[in-house]
Amino acid sequence: MIDVVVVSRTREAQDIYSYELAAVDGSPLPAFSAGAHIDVHLPDGLVRQYSLCNHPEERHRYLIGVLKDPASRGGSRCMHEQIDCGAQLRISEPRNLFPLAHGARRSLLFAGGIGITPILCMAERLAHIGADFELHYCARSSERAAFVERIRTAPFADRLFLHFDEQPQTALDASKVLANAQDDIHLYVCGPGGFMQHVLDSARAQGWQEGCLHREYFAAAPVDTANDGSFSVQVGSTGQVFEVPADQSVVQVLERHGIEIAMSCEQGICGTCLTRVLDGVPEHRDLFLTEEEQALNDQFTPCCSRSKTPLLVLDI
Ligand code: FES
Repeated sequence: MIDVVVVSRTREAQDIYSYELAAVDGSPLPAFSAGAHIDVHLPDGLVRQYSLCNHPEERHRYLIGVLKDPASRGGSRCMHEQIDCGAQLRISEPRNLFPLAHGARRSLLFAGGIGITPILCMAERLAHIGADFELHYCARSSERAAFVERIRTAPFADRLFLHFDEQPQTALDASKVLANAQDDIHLYVCGPGGFMQHVLDSARAQGWQEGCLHREYFAAAPVDTANDGSFSVQVGSTGQVFEVPADQSVVQVLERHGIEIAMSCEQGICGTCLTRVLDGVPEHRDLFLTEEEQALNDQFTPCCSRSKTPLLVLDI
Protein backbone atom coordinates (compact mmCIF):
# COMPACT_ATOMS: atom_id res chain seq x y z
CA MET A 1 0.00 0.00 0.00
CA ILE A 2 1.16 3.51 -0.76
CA ASP A 3 -0.09 6.64 0.97
CA VAL A 4 -0.66 9.39 -1.57
CA VAL A 5 -1.99 12.90 -1.54
CA VAL A 6 -4.11 14.54 -4.24
CA VAL A 7 -1.80 17.24 -5.60
CA SER A 8 -4.26 18.59 -8.12
CA ARG A 9 -7.72 17.92 -9.44
CA THR A 10 -8.66 19.12 -12.92
CA ARG A 11 -11.93 19.13 -14.80
CA GLU A 12 -11.03 17.38 -18.05
CA ALA A 13 -14.48 17.14 -19.61
CA GLN A 14 -18.13 17.01 -18.65
CA ASP A 15 -18.37 14.68 -15.62
CA ILE A 16 -14.67 13.79 -15.81
CA TYR A 17 -11.98 14.91 -13.37
CA SER A 18 -8.33 13.95 -13.41
CA TYR A 19 -6.51 13.49 -10.11
CA GLU A 20 -2.77 13.90 -9.80
CA LEU A 21 -1.40 11.77 -6.96
CA ALA A 22 2.02 11.98 -5.31
CA ALA A 23 3.52 10.01 -2.42
CA VAL A 24 2.78 11.65 0.94
CA ASP A 25 6.46 11.36 1.89
CA GLY A 26 7.60 12.73 -1.47
CA SER A 27 9.41 9.54 -2.49
CA PRO A 28 9.33 8.29 -6.09
CA LEU A 29 6.33 6.13 -6.93
CA PRO A 30 6.80 2.56 -8.18
CA ALA A 31 7.43 2.33 -11.91
CA PHE A 32 4.58 1.24 -14.14
CA SER A 33 4.05 0.21 -17.73
CA ALA A 34 1.44 1.49 -20.18
CA GLY A 35 -1.98 -0.04 -19.52
CA ALA A 36 -1.43 -0.41 -15.76
CA HIS A 37 -4.01 0.47 -13.12
CA ILE A 38 -4.01 1.09 -9.40
CA ASP A 39 -6.54 0.17 -6.73
CA VAL A 40 -7.73 3.29 -4.93
CA HIS A 41 -9.03 2.72 -1.40
CA LEU A 42 -11.81 5.21 -0.79
CA PRO A 43 -12.83 6.62 2.59
CA ASP A 44 -15.99 4.54 2.87
CA GLY A 45 -14.20 1.22 2.39
CA LEU A 46 -14.78 0.95 -1.36
CA VAL A 47 -11.88 -0.13 -3.56
CA ARG A 48 -11.88 0.97 -7.18
CA GLN A 49 -9.49 0.45 -10.08
CA TYR A 50 -8.33 3.38 -12.15
CA SER A 51 -5.94 3.23 -15.10
CA LEU A 52 -2.85 5.40 -14.99
CA CYS A 53 -2.84 7.95 -17.79
CA ASN A 54 0.37 9.88 -17.30
CA HIS A 55 3.60 9.16 -19.13
CA PRO A 56 4.96 5.80 -17.92
CA GLU A 57 8.43 7.28 -17.48
CA GLU A 58 7.20 9.58 -14.70
CA ARG A 59 7.92 8.56 -11.12
CA HIS A 60 6.89 11.70 -9.24
CA ARG A 61 3.16 11.30 -9.85
CA TYR A 62 0.32 9.12 -11.00
CA LEU A 63 -2.54 10.59 -13.00
CA ILE A 64 -5.98 8.99 -13.08
CA GLY A 65 -9.18 10.07 -14.83
CA VAL A 66 -12.55 9.47 -13.19
CA LEU A 67 -15.93 9.65 -14.90
CA LYS A 68 -18.87 10.35 -12.65
CA ASP A 69 -20.97 7.40 -13.65
CA PRO A 70 -24.73 7.88 -13.27
CA ALA A 71 -24.93 4.16 -12.48
CA SER A 72 -22.12 4.51 -9.93
CA ARG A 73 -21.96 1.81 -7.25
CA GLY A 74 -20.48 4.52 -5.06
CA GLY A 75 -16.85 4.77 -6.20
CA SER A 76 -16.95 7.48 -8.85
CA ARG A 77 -19.51 9.50 -6.86
CA CYS A 78 -17.25 9.38 -3.82
CA MET A 79 -14.24 10.47 -5.90
CA HIS A 80 -16.13 13.39 -7.44
CA GLU A 81 -17.89 14.57 -4.31
CA GLN A 82 -15.40 13.89 -1.53
CA ILE A 83 -11.89 13.81 -2.99
CA ASP A 84 -10.23 17.13 -3.72
CA CYS A 85 -6.76 18.68 -3.48
CA GLY A 86 -4.99 17.75 -0.26
CA ALA A 87 -7.03 14.58 0.33
CA GLN A 88 -4.99 11.55 1.31
CA LEU A 89 -5.69 8.14 -0.15
CA ARG A 90 -4.21 4.69 0.03
CA ILE A 91 -3.45 3.05 -3.26
CA SER A 92 -1.98 -0.27 -4.37
CA GLU A 93 1.14 -0.60 -6.43
CA PRO A 94 0.40 -0.47 -10.17
CA ARG A 95 -0.70 -3.71 -11.76
CA ASN A 96 -0.94 -4.33 -15.49
CA LEU A 97 -3.61 -6.62 -16.96
CA PHE A 98 -3.59 -4.72 -20.26
CA PRO A 99 0.04 -4.58 -21.38
CA LEU A 100 1.32 -3.71 -24.82
CA ALA A 101 2.42 -6.78 -26.79
CA HIS A 102 6.11 -7.04 -27.55
CA GLY A 103 7.21 -7.07 -31.14
CA ALA A 104 4.07 -5.58 -32.72
CA ARG A 105 4.80 -3.99 -36.08
CA ARG A 106 1.77 -1.75 -35.75
CA SER A 107 -0.83 -1.07 -33.03
CA LEU A 108 -4.41 0.13 -33.38
CA LEU A 109 -5.73 1.80 -30.25
CA PHE A 110 -9.48 2.26 -29.69
CA ALA A 111 -10.81 4.31 -26.80
CA GLY A 112 -14.47 4.87 -25.98
CA GLY A 113 -15.19 7.72 -23.55
CA ILE A 114 -13.28 7.36 -20.29
CA GLY A 115 -11.58 4.29 -21.82
CA ILE A 116 -9.06 6.84 -23.11
CA THR A 117 -7.12 6.61 -19.81
CA PRO A 118 -5.07 3.42 -20.39
CA ILE A 119 -5.12 3.99 -24.17
CA LEU A 120 -3.58 7.47 -23.81
CA CYS A 121 -0.76 6.02 -21.75
CA MET A 122 -0.19 3.40 -24.46
CA ALA A 123 -0.12 6.09 -27.14
CA GLU A 124 2.49 8.06 -25.16
CA ARG A 125 4.62 4.96 -24.79
CA LEU A 126 4.34 3.92 -28.44
CA ALA A 127 5.18 7.45 -29.56
CA HIS A 128 8.13 7.50 -27.16
CA ILE A 129 9.67 4.36 -28.67
CA GLY A 130 8.90 5.46 -32.25
CA ALA A 131 6.40 2.67 -32.89
CA ASP A 132 3.77 2.72 -35.59
CA PHE A 133 0.22 3.21 -34.27
CA GLU A 134 -3.17 4.85 -34.75
CA LEU A 135 -5.41 6.16 -31.99
CA HIS A 136 -9.17 6.15 -32.54
CA TYR A 137 -10.98 8.07 -29.83
CA CYS A 138 -14.78 7.83 -29.76
CA ALA A 139 -17.00 9.96 -27.52
CA ARG A 140 -20.54 11.23 -27.46
CA SER A 141 -19.42 14.83 -27.91
CA SER A 142 -16.33 17.00 -27.68
CA GLU A 143 -17.55 18.23 -24.24
CA ARG A 144 -17.45 14.66 -22.95
CA ALA A 145 -14.02 13.77 -24.36
CA ALA A 146 -11.23 14.10 -21.79
CA PHE A 147 -7.59 14.89 -22.61
CA VAL A 148 -8.35 16.00 -26.19
CA GLU A 149 -6.14 19.09 -25.91
CA ARG A 150 -3.29 17.05 -24.47
CA ILE A 151 -3.50 14.66 -27.43
CA ARG A 152 -3.98 17.39 -30.03
CA THR A 153 -0.79 19.07 -28.88
CA ALA A 154 1.18 15.84 -28.40
CA PRO A 155 3.94 14.83 -30.82
CA PHE A 156 1.64 12.04 -32.01
CA ALA A 157 -1.33 14.30 -32.79
CA ASP A 158 -1.18 13.25 -36.44
CA ARG A 159 -2.04 9.70 -35.38
CA LEU A 160 -5.27 10.76 -33.66
CA PHE A 161 -8.69 10.12 -35.19
CA LEU A 162 -11.59 11.66 -33.27
CA HIS A 163 -15.06 10.20 -33.66
CA PHE A 164 -17.88 12.15 -32.01
CA ASP A 165 -21.48 10.92 -32.07
CA GLU A 166 -22.63 14.53 -32.52
CA GLN A 167 -20.70 14.70 -35.80
CA PRO A 168 -21.96 11.72 -37.83
CA GLN A 169 -19.47 12.43 -40.60
CA THR A 170 -16.68 11.47 -38.14
CA ALA A 171 -18.27 8.09 -37.22
CA LEU A 172 -15.84 5.23 -36.75
CA ASP A 173 -15.97 2.78 -39.64
CA ALA A 174 -14.50 -0.13 -37.70
CA SER A 175 -14.62 -2.60 -40.59
CA LYS A 176 -12.59 -0.23 -42.75
CA VAL A 177 -10.02 0.56 -40.06
CA LEU A 178 -9.69 -3.12 -39.20
CA ALA A 179 -9.28 -4.41 -42.74
CA ASN A 180 -5.98 -6.19 -43.50
CA ALA A 181 -5.62 -8.23 -40.32
CA GLN A 182 -2.06 -9.45 -39.88
CA ASP A 183 -0.29 -11.43 -37.17
CA ASP A 184 1.99 -8.56 -36.20
CA ILE A 185 -0.71 -5.89 -35.93
CA HIS A 186 -2.26 -5.65 -32.46
CA LEU A 187 -5.54 -4.09 -31.40
CA TYR A 188 -6.24 -2.54 -27.97
CA VAL A 189 -9.70 -1.45 -26.92
CA CYS A 190 -11.11 0.07 -23.74
CA GLY A 191 -14.46 1.73 -23.16
CA PRO A 192 -18.12 0.94 -22.59
CA GLY A 193 -19.13 -2.70 -23.11
CA GLY A 194 -21.16 -2.12 -26.30
CA PHE A 195 -18.34 -0.12 -27.89
CA MET A 196 -15.78 -2.80 -27.06
CA GLN A 197 -18.03 -5.54 -28.40
CA HIS A 198 -18.49 -3.62 -31.66
CA VAL A 199 -14.75 -3.17 -32.17
CA LEU A 200 -13.92 -6.77 -31.24
CA ASP A 201 -16.73 -8.24 -33.36
CA SER A 202 -15.63 -6.10 -36.31
CA ALA A 203 -12.06 -7.33 -35.90
CA ARG A 204 -13.13 -10.98 -35.75
CA ALA A 205 -15.30 -10.51 -38.83
CA GLN A 206 -12.21 -9.18 -40.63
CA GLY A 207 -10.22 -12.28 -39.69
CA TRP A 208 -8.24 -10.99 -36.71
CA GLN A 209 -6.72 -13.70 -34.48
CA GLU A 210 -7.69 -13.70 -30.80
CA GLY A 211 -4.04 -13.37 -29.79
CA CYS A 212 -3.89 -9.93 -31.42
CA LEU A 213 -6.99 -8.60 -29.62
CA HIS A 214 -6.38 -6.90 -26.25
CA ARG A 215 -9.11 -5.41 -24.10
CA GLU A 216 -9.73 -3.92 -20.70
CA TYR A 217 -13.18 -3.78 -19.20
CA PHE A 218 -14.26 -1.07 -16.77
CA ALA A 219 -17.43 -2.75 -15.69
CA ALA A 220 -18.93 -6.18 -16.01
CA ALA A 221 -21.87 -6.64 -18.34
CA PRO A 222 -25.17 -6.91 -16.47
CA VAL A 223 -25.94 -10.52 -15.62
CA ASP A 224 -29.44 -11.95 -15.39
CA THR A 225 -29.58 -13.30 -11.86
CA ALA A 226 -33.31 -14.12 -11.92
CA ASN A 227 -32.71 -17.85 -12.21
CA ASP A 228 -29.85 -18.06 -9.73
CA GLY A 229 -30.20 -20.92 -7.27
CA SER A 230 -28.30 -22.03 -4.22
CA PHE A 231 -25.34 -24.42 -4.18
CA SER A 232 -22.69 -25.51 -1.70
CA VAL A 233 -19.00 -24.81 -1.44
CA GLN A 234 -16.55 -27.01 0.39
CA VAL A 235 -13.31 -25.70 1.87
CA GLY A 236 -10.77 -28.19 0.53
CA SER A 237 -8.36 -27.89 3.47
CA THR A 238 -10.90 -28.44 6.27
CA GLY A 239 -13.85 -30.17 4.62
CA GLN A 240 -16.31 -27.54 5.92
CA VAL A 241 -19.35 -27.14 3.65
CA PHE A 242 -21.35 -23.91 3.38
CA GLU A 243 -24.49 -23.16 1.45
CA VAL A 244 -24.39 -20.22 -0.96
CA PRO A 245 -27.91 -18.78 -1.25
CA ALA A 246 -29.14 -17.29 -4.52
CA ASP A 247 -28.66 -13.72 -3.36
CA GLN A 248 -25.12 -14.03 -2.01
CA SER A 249 -21.70 -14.56 -3.55
CA VAL A 250 -19.25 -17.27 -2.57
CA VAL A 251 -16.96 -14.60 -1.13
CA GLN A 252 -19.74 -13.18 1.05
CA VAL A 253 -20.62 -16.63 2.41
CA LEU A 254 -17.00 -17.50 3.15
CA GLU A 255 -16.43 -14.13 4.80
CA ARG A 256 -19.42 -14.75 7.07
CA HIS A 257 -17.64 -17.88 8.25
CA GLY A 258 -14.35 -16.14 8.87
CA ILE A 259 -12.65 -17.12 5.61
CA GLU A 260 -11.26 -14.07 3.82
CA ILE A 261 -10.57 -14.05 0.12
CA ALA A 262 -8.78 -10.95 -1.17
CA MET A 263 -11.02 -8.93 -3.45
CA SER A 264 -10.76 -5.77 -5.44
CA CYS A 265 -13.24 -5.14 -8.26
CA GLU A 266 -15.97 -7.48 -6.97
CA GLN A 267 -17.24 -7.98 -10.51
CA GLY A 268 -14.99 -10.48 -12.21
CA ILE A 269 -12.65 -8.07 -13.95
CA CYS A 270 -9.41 -7.92 -11.99
CA GLY A 271 -8.71 -11.55 -11.06
CA THR A 272 -7.69 -10.69 -7.47
CA CYS A 273 -10.06 -13.28 -5.99
CA LEU A 274 -9.11 -16.07 -8.42
CA THR A 275 -9.43 -19.39 -6.59
CA ARG A 276 -8.56 -22.92 -7.68
CA VAL A 277 -11.42 -25.39 -8.01
CA LEU A 278 -10.71 -28.99 -6.98
CA ASP A 279 -14.08 -30.50 -7.87
CA GLY A 280 -17.38 -29.39 -9.41
CA VAL A 281 -18.06 -27.14 -12.38
CA PRO A 282 -18.12 -23.37 -11.91
CA GLU A 283 -20.52 -21.13 -13.74
CA HIS A 284 -18.11 -18.46 -14.91
CA ARG A 285 -19.32 -14.88 -14.86
CA ASP A 286 -16.00 -13.08 -15.06
CA LEU A 287 -14.29 -11.15 -17.81
CA PHE A 288 -10.84 -11.97 -16.46
CA LEU A 289 -10.26 -15.53 -17.64
CA THR A 290 -10.07 -16.33 -21.34
CA GLU A 291 -12.68 -18.67 -22.81
CA GLU A 292 -10.03 -21.40 -22.91
CA GLU A 293 -9.15 -20.87 -19.25
CA GLN A 294 -12.80 -20.92 -18.26
CA ALA A 295 -13.33 -24.18 -20.15
CA LEU A 296 -10.71 -25.91 -17.97
CA ASN A 297 -12.99 -25.31 -14.94
CA ASP A 298 -10.04 -25.54 -12.57
CA GLN A 299 -10.29 -21.97 -11.27
CA PHE A 300 -13.00 -19.32 -10.92
CA THR A 301 -13.70 -15.86 -9.51
CA PRO A 302 -15.78 -16.32 -6.34
CA CYS A 303 -16.71 -12.61 -6.20
CA CYS A 304 -19.27 -13.13 -8.97
CA SER A 305 -19.11 -16.64 -10.45
CA ARG A 306 -21.37 -19.41 -9.23
CA SER A 307 -21.67 -23.18 -9.70
CA LYS A 308 -23.29 -25.43 -12.27
CA THR A 309 -22.97 -28.41 -9.93
CA PRO A 310 -24.56 -28.75 -6.46
CA LEU A 311 -21.11 -28.72 -4.84
CA LEU A 312 -17.92 -26.84 -5.63
CA VAL A 313 -14.76 -27.90 -3.78
CA LEU A 314 -12.29 -25.02 -3.45
CA ASP A 315 -8.52 -25.15 -2.95
CA ILE A 316 -8.50 -22.98 0.13
FE1 FES B 1 -11.92 -8.79 -9.12
FE2 FES B 1 -13.06 -11.05 -8.17
S1 FES B 1 -12.43 -9.32 -7.06
S2 FES B 1 -12.32 -10.67 -10.15
